[in-house]
Amino acid sequence: MSATPVKVAVTGAAGQIGYSLLFRIAAGDLLGPDTPVQLRLLEITPALKALEGVVMELDDCAFPLLDSVEIGDDANTIFDGANLALLVGARPRTKGMERGDLLEANGAIFTAQGKALNDHAADDIRIGVTGNPANTNALIAKTNAPDIPAERFSALTRLDHNRAISQLAAKTGAKVTDITKMTIWGNHSATQYPDIFHAEIAGRNAAEVVDDQAWIADSFIPTVAKRGAAIIEARGASSAASAASATIDAARDWLLGSPEGDWVSMAVSSDGSYGVPEGIISSFPVVTKGGDWEIVQGLEIDEFSRAKIDASVAELVEERDAVTKLGLI
Ligand code: NAD
Ligand code: LMR
Repeated sequence: MSATPVKVAVTGAAGQIGYSLLFRIAAGDLLGPDTPVQLRLLEITPALKALEGVVMELDDCAFPLLDSVEIGDDANTIFDGANLALLVGARPRTKGMERGDLLEANGAIFTAQGKALNDHAADDIRIGVTGNPANTNALIAKTNAPDIPAERFSALTRLDHNRAISQLAAKTGAKVTDITKMTIWGNHSATQYPDIFHAEIAGRNAAEVVDDQAWIADSFIPTVAKRGAAIIEARGASSAASAASATIDAARDWLLGSPEGDWVSMAVSSDGSYGVPEGIISSFPVVTKGGDWEIVQGLEIDEFSRAKIDASVAELVEERDAVTKLGLI
């Protein structure tokens, strides 16, 4: 077992996603079976009591890899020395709230957390944002952490990526493990573009295997893009275990590497690739290794895909402009 434990900070730790995420991290699903973990859990003050209960349960699991757990409501203390920060906690949209209200409420959270990470996290910090609106929350945190390289921030579109693989597997009868090179472009929202034109099923082009443009346009894309809303409708609460699982997949692959011969979807700070304006946090196909990522270059984008990518990117630009107006970035 490696001697040095990794400090993993999780925000919103007493929430629904936290309840699945923490146990899987402590079990070794994120960093593997040889790396001990120190959990540092941030919550708002009223949720600390509930979080104490979660910590009792973590204790009761006697996880061999769980070195320590620290909880608190002060981001400066919780992020101190963190190597990985999973920003899950966010203000949910409530009745009567407009999109701008949501951006503002979350802006306050991610401004403060960006600053705290900037001042207290370890030099090798990596930050993954799950809390919605994830892309723009990551943009706010990134902008408020000028000493942390922009490449260290990402937002979660891995859940969408996993959903897209699952839908394609169901349509074609393929195993999920046979499906590679899936891509989610743009925002983690209903405008996202799940792209199977570069995906492969056992090495064959997925769109050619499917051979049904109507299914792609009218069934596959909306099903993946609106899956979050469908789960809220069915469960009465947003996806939690699957979101935790995707949060782990994304962080694990970022730190330990994406599978050989494949790529993953991750929302990262655009370098201008594929015409996406520089600096916004948009989802791309990326290969990852040792905590670094590179956008897969050279993919041919046809007119259909171009329009879909542009629509989602336009929404991200609108969100960026809205939070700029609010003085959050
Ligand atoms: P939840 O309401 O059950 O839990 C959120 C927790 O965050 C709460 O315990 C709350 O007290 C805490 N919190 C609020 N403000 C905080 C702050 N400033 N600091 C620390 N903690 C704070 O919600 P959940 O189901 O766990 O979902 C969390 C977020 O993840 C939501 O924004 C949800 O929309 C989002 N989500 C994203 C994806 C994705 O794929 N990106 C998928 C599912 C859910
Ligand atoms: C999801 O994709 O499941 C969530 O982002 C939905 C939501 O709005 O919380």
